[in-house]
Amino acid sequence: MSVPEHVAIIMDGNGRWAKAKGMPRNYGHVQGAKTVEDMCEIAWNMGIKYLTVYAFSTENWSRPKDEVNALMKLLRNYMKNCIKRASANNMRVRVIGDKTGLDEDIRKSIADLEEATKGYTGLNFTIAINYGGRDEITRAVRSLAKDVENGTLKPEDITDKMISERLDTGDLPDPDLLIRTCGELRVSNFLLWQISYSEIYVTDVAWPDFNEAELKKACDAYEGRTRKFGNVAQ
Ligand code: IPE
Ligand code: IPE
Ligand code: MG
Repeated sequence: MSVPEHVAIIMDGNGRWAKAKGMPRNYGHVQGAKTVEDMCEIAWNMGIKYLTVYAFSTENWSRPKDEVNALMKLLRNYMKNCIKRASANNMRVRVIGDKTGLDEDIRKSIADLEEATKGYTGLNFTIAINYGGRDEITRAVRSLAKDVENGTLKPEDITDKMISERLDTGDLPDPDLLIRTCGELRVSNFLLWQISYSEIYVTDVAWPDFNEAELKKACDAYEGRTRKFGNVAQ
C-alpha cells in the first residue's frame, strides 16, 4: 500500500458537531483538540511521516471574542501537554503562521516546543496557527524584496524553489494528500502554494468524530488515484 508521505488536514466542523449535540461550540473545540492528539499517533503508525493541521486561520480572529479567547486558552493548554507527548513519541513539532500576531506566552511555548523537539526523528507534526496562505506568501515576497533592495538578489534570478524555501514550510515537502472534514468544498486560505498538486479528499465526518478508520479511508482513496504532475502520470 502506498501511504502518503505528507498529509495536511483542514480540521473543520467542531462547532456544527457540538451544536448537533446541543452543546456550546467550545465543547466541539475541546473534543477536536483530543482528536488531534490521537491522530498524531495513528498517522505515524500508518507510516505517514508528515502531518500538518490547520488550527487557527488569519480569518478566525473575526469570530466572536469569547470564541477566540476560548481557542487561545485551548492552544495554551495544548502546547503545554504537547511537549510531554512529543518527547514520549519522538515527535518533531513545528508551528507555521505569523507568530508575531500571537500573545507573548504562546510564542514562548512555541519556541520551547520547537527547540525541545528539533532532534526528534519520528512524526513531523506541524500546526498552523494564525496561518493564512496569502499572508505566508506575502511575507515570503517581502523577504525576497528586501534582498533585491539590498542588492544581494536580482529579480530575474528569483525561482519558484526560492519562493518555496522562504515560506514557513521551507523545510517540509509539499502535502501529498489534503483532507477537509465536515463537507465544505473549499481551501479556506490553507497552504495555497504547497497544495498545487495535492490530492484532495473531503469527508462529511466532523473533526471531533474523525478517527483511524476515517484516515484509512482517505489514504485508500489517495492510493486509488493516479497522481499527476503536469500531464505525466506518476
Ligand atoms: C474548526 O471548526 C476549528 C476552527 C476553525 C478553529 P469550526 O469552528 O470552523 O466549526 P464549524 O465549521 O463552525 O462547524
Ligand atoms: C478553516 O476552517 C480554518 C481552520 C480549520 C483553522 P473555517 O471554518 O475557519 O473556514 P471557513 O470559514 O469554512 O472557510
Ligand atoms: Mg468551520
